[in-house]
Formats: sequence, structure tokens, C-alpha cells
Amino acid sequence: MKSILSIETSCDDTSVALVREDYHVLCCLVASQDLVHQPFGGVVPEIASRNHSSHLLPLVDQALKQTQTSWDGIAAVAVTNRPGLIGSLIVGIVTAKTLALSQDKPLIGVHHIEGHIVAPFLQDATYKGATFIQEPFLALVVSGGHTQLVVVRGVGNYQIIAETQDDAAGEAFDKFAKMLGLPYPGGVQVDQWAKLGNDQAFVFPRSKVKDGFSFSGLKSAALRLLQSLSEEEKKLRCADLCASYQKAIVDVLIERSIETLKSTGLKNWVISGGVSANSRLREQALEAAKKMGIQLAIPPLRYCTDNAAMIGLAGLLRWQKGDISNQSMGPEARAPL
Ligand code: KG4
Ligand code: ZN
Repeated sequence: MKSILSIETSCDDTSVALVREDYHVLCCLVASQDLVHQPFGGVVPEIASRNHSSHLLPLVDQALKQTQTSWDGIAAVAVTNRPGLIGSLIVGIVTAKTLALSQDKPLIGVHHIEGHIVAPFLQDATYKGATFIQEPFLALVVSGGHTQLVVVRGVGNYQIIAETQDDAAGEAFDKFAKMLGLPYPGGVQVDQWAKLGNDQAFVFPRSKVKDGFSFSGLKSAALRLLQSLSEEEKKLRCADLCASYQKAIVDVLIERSIETLKSTGLKNWVISGGVSANSRLREQALEAAKKMGIQLAIPPLRYCTDNAAMIGLAGLLRWQKGDISNQSMGPEARAPL
């Protein structure tokens, strides 16, 4: 059985994976840049692309060596080509093109969100994969750049039901963490603090937008509240603030998903993207699915945040359909699913 060699460099994590034709992840390496960007409180695009340049080829070498895979065992090279930071995408694309051309392999450009959508179907030694999920299913994709509810009828057959009108859910987490003076990336920090707090302590607004999500009102309300507190109070009430704010985001994501499951009659649901690592979202979604008799899959944390394995699986599914890119493929900062 052959494997897809995949590359993900759309934002700040450099990742390389080998995904076998049976969806099994042979290896998924991630070089995180969190510490590099932490002093700036967010991703600095120029620094991200420079780091991708130095990390990427050593990771490709390591992935091949570690799995004792030769180029004969590689079916195709897949790479995220959209959407993302242009400089970051270029490093991945140029590397993938060079490898594909020099090793005479097909090149496959992958949409980053398609990668997140298929992530629950990956398999490895400790994760069996969402083989119980049937198409059509509802995908809630929640990341730093996207918040979307999508009906998935097959690879490339997507109907977007709702998307964010302003900030993405991950962005709403990160900006709140920044306001509180918590280190970047903020989502995981808010999640950890929230575990120690009372989620009823503060009341945050939940905005309802007809065709989507909106988190900017929540963010402004949080800013106003934090401005009314002293530095001392912010520190003392950090856990309560995080618990109440997190509840507001998770309530909206769960309510909207339940509404869509009911109105479409879909019985299968997947949640993916960086924010699907959130412990409250995972708990509440499992509870809701159980109550409604819905099959739910959420990937393990390693496949929630950005990783090349999900790009490898999306690439594999595209390759199996004969959906091959050519050497003129370029990066796209913004691209619909
Ligand atoms: O999917 P991802 O790695 O990158 C993008 O495609 O954007 O998502 C990153 C986002 C960040 O906003 C990060 O704060 C958020 O996912 N995130 C979390 C958690 N872990 C990561 N948000 C809430 N709770 C978490 N545990
Ligand atoms: Zn992502």
C-alpha cells in the first residue's frame, strides 16, 4: 500500500505527514512556532514563513526516515494551497512542487478546511477513526480563521449552511485571552482557566445572525466588562471570566448545530478545527448528540489543531478521484470551500 506525503504550512505550524491508502497515519510531525510568536501576542506572517523555510525539508527527511519509506512508497504529494497566509503557503507549495517534479509524483493542492472536515476519519495506533459516520453529515468547523456549518455529501460536495460574519470562534477565544493578558495562543489558556471557574459569574451576550455566526458583539461586551475591572479584579476573577466567556461561545456553537441537525434531519455530525480541542465544546456536543440519538465524531486533539495528516487524507481522497493539480498551482489567501 502506498502513502501520500503531505505538507501543511498555511499559518504558523509547519507539519509533514505520511498517510497510507487505508487512512492510517504512519507519521505526523508538527514543528510548532507558538513560542516564537508568543512575545508578539499573535502570528507575525514574515516570521512564520521564515520558520517554515528552515523547518520544512528537515521534517520531510525525518518523516521518510522514521517510517522507513522510500519514494517508491509515495503515491503523491499533497499540500495546503488555500486559504492561509500567502508567505506561509508559498513555502509549502514551492517545496511540494519541487518534490513532486523531482520525484515524478502527482501534486495535489488541498483546501485547508477540507482537511479539517476529513480529520475525524484519520486512523492511527490509538485512534480508530470515525468509520461509523455516514454521508451526508453535518460538519462544524471551528478554527482560528473559520467558523462554518457545512453539509457534506461527499468529497467536494459541500453546502455551507452558516459561517461567521466577523470573527471566527478561535479568534474570539484568542482576542479575549489577549485582553486578559494570557499568553498566545489563547484558546487553550481560556479552556484551562475555565475549568477552575464559575460559568454563571458573568453574563455575556449570545448574538443570533440569520445565516451565520457573529462573535464581534461578544468581544466588545468582554472589552467593556474588562475595562470596568481593575487589574487586581481581572486577575482574581480570571477563572470566572474565562468560564463565562467560554460558555457563551460554546452555547452558540452547540445551539446552532442542534438547530441545523433538526432542520436538515441529518443523523451524523463531525466537529473539527482547533477549537474542537475545547473541553467544554467536546463535553456539550457529546451530551447533545447522545440526547438526540446522533452519531458524533470529534478527532483526538492531535488532529484538531493544524496538522499535515488531515491534508494527507484530503489529498488521498482527491487523488483517488483523479483530482490532480498542476505545476501552475498557486497560493490563495482567501478561497471558498
Ligand atoms: O485549526 P487551527 O489550529 O488553525 C486554524 O486553521 O486557524 O485553530 C487554531 C485555533 C486558535 O484560535 C486556538 O486558540 C484555538 O484553535 N484552540 C482552542 C483550543 N485549542 C486551540 N480554542 C479553545 N479551546 C481550546 N482548547
Ligand atoms: Zn486550521
